[in-house]
Amino acid sequence: MAQTQRKILVTSALPYANGPIHLGHMLEHIQTDIWVRFQKLRGHLCTAVCADDAHGTAIMIKADQQGITSEQLIDRVRQEHMADFKDFLIGYDNYYSTHSDENRDFSNHIYKRLRDNNKIAVRSITQAYDPEKEMFLADRFIKGTCPKCKAEDQYGDNCEVCSATYTPMEMINPRSVYSGATPVEKESEHYFFKLPEFQDFLAKWTRSGTLQDQVANKLSEWLDAGLKEWDISRDAPYFGFEIPDAPGKYFYVWLDAPIGYMASFKNLCDRTEGLTFDDYWAKDSDAELYHFIGKDIINFHALFWPAMLDCAGYRTPTGVNAHGYVTVDGTKMSKSRGTFIMARTYLNHLDPQYLRYYFAAKLNASVDDIDLSLSDFVQRVNSDVVGKVVNIASRTASFINKKFDGQLASDVSENAMIQSFIDAGDVIAQHFENREYGKAIREIMHLADQANEYIADQAPWVLAKDETTLPKVQEVCTVALNLFSILATYLKPVMPQMVADAEAFLGKVLTWDNRSELLFGKTVNAFKPLMARIDQKQIDAMIEEGKEAAVAAAEAVETSQATTETELSKDPIAAEISFDDFAKVDLRIALIAKAEHVEKANKLLKLTLDLGGETRTVFSGIKSAYKPEDLEGKLTVMVANLAPRQMKFGLSEGMVLAAGPGKDEIYLLEPHAGAKPGQRVM
Ligand code: MSP
Ligand code: ZN
Repeated sequence: MAQTQRKILVTSALPYANGPIHLGHMLEHIQTDIWVRFQKLRGHLCTAVCADDAHGTAIMIKADQQGITSEQLIDRVRQEHMADFKDFLIGYDNYYSTHSDENRDFSNHIYKRLRDNNKIAVRSITQAYDPEKEMFLADRFIKGTCPKCKAEDQYGDNCEVCSATYTPMEMINPRSVYSGATPVEKESEHYFFKLPEFQDFLAKWTRSGTLQDQVANKLSEWLDAGLKEWDISRDAPYFGFEIPDAPGKYFYVWLDAPIGYMASFKNLCDRTEGLTFDDYWAKDSDAELYHFIGKDIINFHALFWPAMLDCAGYRTPTGVNAHGYVTVDGTKMSKSRGTFIMARTYLNHLDPQYLRYYFAAKLNASVDDIDLSLSDFVQRVNSDVVGKVVNIASRTASFINKKFDGQLASDVSENAMIQSFIDAGDVIAQHFENREYGKAIREIMHLADQANEYIADQAPWVLAKDETTLPKVQEVCTVALNLFSILATYLKPVMPQMVADAEAFLGKVLTWDNRSELLFGKTVNAFKPLMARIDQKQIDAMIEEGKEAAVAAAEAVETSQATTETELSKDPIAAEISFDDFAKVDLRIALIAKAEHVEKANKLLKLTLDLGGETRTVFSGIKSAYKPEDLEGKLTVMVANLAPRQMKFGLSEGMVLAAGPGKDEIYLLEPHAGAKPGQRVM
């Protein structure tokens, strides 16, 4: 049984630090965690690291909208992510951030090696630019009207209505989603990684057994089509690392993101006795390195990343393990249906081990999508985990506790069955090793069925009624609890908390190898129920919360984009501006002609403002402080030249001014008597 100890480093893709963890992410972290726990249970030296992916425009913009710094945003989100993982029993050895000194050092170092190997090209490109925000705009940050079918509010690269593709400048009335300004074209120098020069290397590497066949085949198509140079720079303002010797140019977030795997591991090595960075990353390393990722980010991990590593003098991954996407009840996770379920929402209602079990039961080594069918989820967890596995112990433990003072029989006649359970471990281990968790679970449940049949046949509850057959009761229950102990060992990577509770009851710390050390003549502890059934009510409550959270989140974004609310919570010490700057703001007296509730909005009121002839619609986050009827007929002050914003509830054409700390303390500004609608405020 003893084998040589493997040294294994495992990573999951680094979640973006601009949003919460959802059940799609959780599939990946659960898949990784099961594999890692399995390796550790087998006695290997397996280390798992992850981190938040903290750079890029989206994070910068989000922080800006919330009136906080990017650093504050990524710190807060990282704490939330770590709490979600901990509560889902995901046990990373280190959970770091790509915004770290280690990552900056490695990124600079790797970049310099690429540059010194003449694999970096520099040339000018033309891009859309927001003249107001003074920043370049990626296509998805531009919206406008489709030049082909004239559908409004389409992204800058393709039309969701007619599927036309185009450049942002070909759109009708393109607008920056940040400022509403019309983008202009602007040139700038960009840095490119010369990927085509790795064509031969990658053709070989992608066929070297590191990838799933499905994935290697897909990559062959791309390789055959020819690789393009990869743009690895972005212009300031950008939240990331400035490129050495290129002031104002930053590494594109995807350049330093995978390097974050190294940085997180290095950070762990620096405080862990016996763990050495080079042992795992040097070109001649004999350690294994695996990346668990989703199918959407394969090109980054199976093309760019190995090319970068090889060129910079590091080893390449042993395996890149891609998984499919989570769907709920057969369709894409959806906010309006309440099935875009956040990890925290799930945890508010259900034990994380239910989902760990369900995903395990459905996972295999392919990139096929995984459907979380909610009715199947309830049925399967209840019948397998509670009805089969836990049942073995709960039907027999009480006899041992009550009739025999916790003492197990010192020998049993039924040894063949126990031996077959032990032997099955080799096949089950192969399945876990190959990421065929579904097959492993099927084997385990097949064994559980056998154990339950044995108990039903022996019927200890009948034997217990007769003094003469009492010894047989002890023997049957001893067999059953040994079977249970072996099954618990196999399930330990999947349901670590339940098995920890089982270990406390059995008085044994289970490892893969010690499953053959049987529990005879030992005393077990008091048995506590290991796991309850799922009640459909819990699922309903979770979906309901999912719907509410989705509505609240959509509103929060809109509120922060278009109303007084975040202005109120922003840092009160603003930078000094010139009078000319101030004069750019067109402040006007406005009459609130109409104020209405907005259906499904928790914070917003819809205001119809009269500017002395001209009418504007403004959505304002003041619902908590005002009743609509109390506002009608009042005068207030509005910013009349704020770029209009398209919100879910309609177009907001300006902003009204208010003071106060926010929440239900919001005070709209009102001029002294005599002011007329439309008058300019200076
Ligand atoms: N930050 C990048 C990864 C950088 S790795 C050096 C990123 N982040 S992400 O937050 O968008 O996604 C993180 C992981 O979650 C990816 O592997 C992605 O495939 C996975 N998933 C995100 N949504 C998913 C589903 N709905 N279903 C399954 N996995 C999905 O990409
Ligand atoms: Zn169109």
